[in-house]
Amino acid sequence: MILCITLLLFGQVSAPRIQRPAPDQPLPFSHKTHVAGGLDCKQCHPMPDPGDFATLPPASFCMSCHQAVKKESPHIARLAEFHNAARKIPWARVYRIPDYVFFNHKKHVSVDGVNCETCHGPVAERDVLRREKEVGMQACMDCHRARGASNDCLYCHEQR
Ligand code: HEC
Ligand code: HEC
Ligand code: HEC
Ligand code: HEC
Ligand code: HEC
Repeated sequence: MILCITLLLFGQVSAPRIQRPAPDQPLPFSHKTHVAGGLDCKQCHPMPDPGDFATLPPASFCMSCHQAVKKESPHIARLAEFHNAARKIPWARVYRIPDYVFFNHKKHVSVDGVNCETCHGPVAERDVLRREKEVGMQACMDCHRARGASNDCLYCHEQR
């Protein structure tokens, strides 16, 4: 018991803090600017059913403002090019887990006390996103253990 608690406490303080650098992005999109401007996470990341993915917004959504806002900026000209060519903006992914792992966004944000910040940090304060929170198997299992959710291998890895 004491060993368990010690491992738990020290495991958490001394866990390697992986500060992954921010990837290069095709446009200098700032969460801080846009959230401060009054946009809600779910307007851009709506989690359509079945809720597995939060999804990224299409350029057409961005252009609903940028048709008019900051048109003179070369970055917005670039954004307009993606839009006019009907091309997806090639964002570099920040959080990504392998396809063989089951994960559902909607289920997780409906858990008491869990929100976007729990797994992604204070996004609304960031100009540039980098992976500042762990989403590896250990991080998943730590929370499942703490909250009494299953840690059965098949819960995350096979047809249940
Ligand atoms: C609700 C309106 C709105 C939407 C939707 C919106 N933006 Fe913006 N965006 C703004 C405002 C306001 C600014 C700040 C303009 C300024 O600095 O005066 C801005 C600034 C920017 C800038 C910085 C431009 C520069 O050169 O300073 C970029 C890049 C940008 N937005 C990209 C995007 C992208 C990509 C999307 C879609 C994912 C998007 N915006 C959606 C309103 C919006
Ligand atoms: C105006 C639209 C917009 C709003 C509002 C917005 N986001 Fe985003 N989000 C984006 C775009 C565009 C990207 C891709 C560029 C990037 O990674 O910065 C992104 C990327 C992300 C990512 C990284 C995805 C990955 O794995 O590559 C996370 C996490 C995220 N947003 C969370 C949030 C949260 C939490 C909020 C609310 C506090 C929020 N976003 C509000 C447009 C938005
Ligand atoms: C329990 C942890 C957890 C919570 C809570 C969470 N996310 Fe995620 N998020 C992840 C993981 C894990 C991934 C990578 C998923 C993948 O690669 O399939 C991810 C990926 C993303 C992406 C990339 C695009 C996508 O659809 O996969 C966006 C955007 C995102 N999250 C936004 C949000 C927003 C907004 C919230 C709050 C409403 C949120 N997340 C809450 C763990 C979480
Ligand atoms: C902040 C705590 C927390 C984190 C982090 C977390 N989970 Fe969960 N997860 C839960 C809880 C609590 C449940 C039970 C939800 C319920 O039964 O309503 C759950 C349920 C699940 C389910 C079952 C959902 C369903 O569709 O029935 C899967 C699969 C899952 N988590 C995978 C993951 C993976 C993979 C990660 C890491 C990338 C992860 N979880 C990270 C708390 C968390
Ligand atoms: C709560 C969700 C969850 C549970 C439970 C879980 N895993 Fe995982 N597992 C993950 C995630 C997420 C990854 C992907 C890690 C990454 O690559 O970022 C993963 C990756 C793996 C990998 C790939 C190699 C690696 O370490 O990256 C193996 C093998 C694996 N898990 C085996 C297992 C076994 C065996 C069990 C049961 C003892 C188990 N997993 C239980 C979420 C889970």
